[in-house]
Amino acid sequence: MQVANTKEHIKEIIFDLRKKNTSIGFVPTMGALHKGHLSLISKALQENDVAIVSIFVNPTQFDNKKDLENYPRKLNKDVALLKTLSKTKILVYAPTVDDIYVKSVKSTRFYFDGLEHEMEGEFRDGHFDGVGTIVKRLFEIVTPDRAYFGEKDFQQLQIIRKLVEKHKLPVKVIGCKIHREINGLAMSSRNERLLPEYKNAAPFIFRTLQEAKKKFGTKSATKVTEWVAKQFKKNKFFELEYFIIADIETLKPVKRKTQSKKYRAFIAAYAGEIRLIDNIALN
Ligand code: PAJ
Repeated sequence: MQVANTKEHIKEIIFDLRKKNTSIGFVPTMGALHKGHLSLISKALQENDVAIVSIFVNPTQFDNKKDLENYPRKLNKDVALLKTLSKTKILVYAPTVDDIYVKSVKSTRFYFDGLEHEMEGEFRDGHFDGVGTIVKRLFEIVTPDRAYFGEKDFQQLQIIRKLVEKHKLPVKVIGCKIHREINGLAMSSRNERLLPEYKNAAPFIFRTLQEAKKKFGTKSATKVTEWVAKQFKKNKFFELEYFIIADIETLKPVKRKTQSKKYRAFIAAYAGEIRLIDNIALN
């Protein structure tokens, strides 16, 4: 499996692929790969001749220094896992911080029509500027035909769609379903830092989302939101940061339900020091 650590190297590889008319599916990641990531990569492999996977823990999207320091980094293990999918059709781009941020480790400011101020944007200062900066840079380096993003980070997915639309980037963005543990916990690189008691309790988050979905059939968003807050107050393992039912296009909290609009419920909660997010389609 080819692993490029510099943009010059990956560009060289891509130049040769393009000469052979090879289509490229791109899956940007921060590593510590799990089955959720693999589901995106499998889809990229189905729909393209090759898949390029970037592995880069992007410093500018972390609002919390400790979270950045503790973020799991395990390139060798990641490469071994990727080899189980394909040894020849997956290429890895694992750059250093200097390779990506040549002059200074700073993000560009983006305007995503207000999507960036909702939910994660409100609680993680500068996060989406960091995401926009890295994804735009990676798109410019990798020049993929299609790029794959998980609905696990639904707000990120919508923001990337907006980035592509606003900057007229020549790439098709493809959203992929959330991959879950059997017990319902959405897979995440952060899960491996969960202490056992939190891991055991974690299915509560998805169960609550499912229950909220049922209630949203007959109750208002406000009533459902109050119900969720109550469930979290009764649970000693989790501290709720937000629960929001939002319009999937604007990501703004729903005030009054309309048949013609699509909604999702979004949740962020702390399990001890670990921050978990999840979401569910409501209609
Ligand atoms: P990371 O958290 O590593 O996730 C990489 C991609 O995998 C994202 O598109 C994310 O939504 C998707 N993903 C993670 N867990 C998933 C799951 N359980 N089911 C389905 N998809 C899942 O998201 C990032 O990295 C970064 O912000 C990045 C886009 C790479 C920019 O730095």
